[in-house]
Amino acid sequence: MPGFPEVRPRRLRSSEAVRRLVAETSLEPRQLILPMFVREGAREPIAIKSMPGVVQHTRDTARKAIAEAAQLGLGGVMLFGVPTSKDPEGSGALDPNGILNVAIRDAVSEAGDALLVMSDLCLDEFTSHGHCGVLDSAGRVDNDATLSLYAEMGVAQATAGAHVVGPSGMMDGQVGVIRKALDAAGFIDTVILAYAVKYASAFFGPFREAVDSSLTGDRKTYQQDNANARDAIREVDLDIAEGADIVMVKPALPYLDIVRQIRDHVTVPVAAYNISGEYAMVEAAAANGWIDRDKAILETLTSIRRAGADTILTYWATEVAQKLRYR
Ligand code: PBG
Repeated sequence: MPGFPEVRPRRLRSSEAVRRLVAETSLEPRQLILPMFVREGAREPIAIKSMPGVVQHTRDTARKAIAEAAQLGLGGVMLFGVPTSKDPEGSGALDPNGILNVAIRDAVSEAGDALLVMSDLCLDEFTSHGHCGVLDSAGRVDNDATLSLYAEMGVAQATAGAHVVGPSGMMDGQVGVIRKALDAAGFIDTVILAYAVKYASAFFGPFREAVDSSLTGDRKTYQQDNANARDAIREVDLDIAEGADIVMVKPALPYLDIVRQIRDHVTVPVAAYNISGEYAMVEAAAANGWIDRDKAILETLTSIRRAGADTILTYWATEVAQKLRYR
């Protein structure tokens, strides 16, 4: 049958040049945000075993990584603190000399306005029980008692110079109280990147090692149930009504359907967090020689962009930005 098939989709796949021309989805350094852990009192960076290649930084190595991120044109860095002492109220989170606030000041003095300095706004790294909020007398996470602490923590982070705060504790009303407190303190331009959609997930596993978490049990009474999608829309609507500037979906890979639904539902930018367990899966399989590491990383990040994320938090941000430069 000469001339059959007349329509040949393969024509647009037949060379690197034509594939480049018709690619729908791009990956650019400005779309990537590097999460970083800074450990109080550390003299040497400490390897995180479950996240090969990721470390708990010293203040000094954090500065170097931030300078590199700025130079590569990343979208930003998301800072986490690893304190040496914890208490039930997580008071180190509010202390201007607490490690996270110190790390924010270091980052801003290193990068100036060339790079967005973002900070995780949650108590779990600082509480002795490892929960995201304070506990009531029955040992449950007390939503409303936690809110005022988040408001104070937001102001402490903005005072330290954070351009963007990232409330990640899944307390009801958290975005509203943080926005109010920031505005009252004069920080009207501090951006709120709300971890609006956050599922209770097994894929957070390696993060517990990354921040020396003291958590036992789970976060199922405040993080979302992975059987539910409509709950994600509800959370996002509430956060936007309370003043979120950017909304995040987290984890990313097991929730790409949610990323797409949120992208189609809102008009604000959407971020997705390619979390610790997603990182660890690829690294572990690659270390075993079971998958091609570099290709798997690019395919992973492209899939998250294709699902609708404008920006991606990923532990591969610096490495990928370097590779994209020379592609
Ligand atoms: C809360 C927070 C967590 C992560 C980011 N912010 C842990 C949690 O909610 O249990 C996880 C990030 C990752 O797994 O890469 N401070």
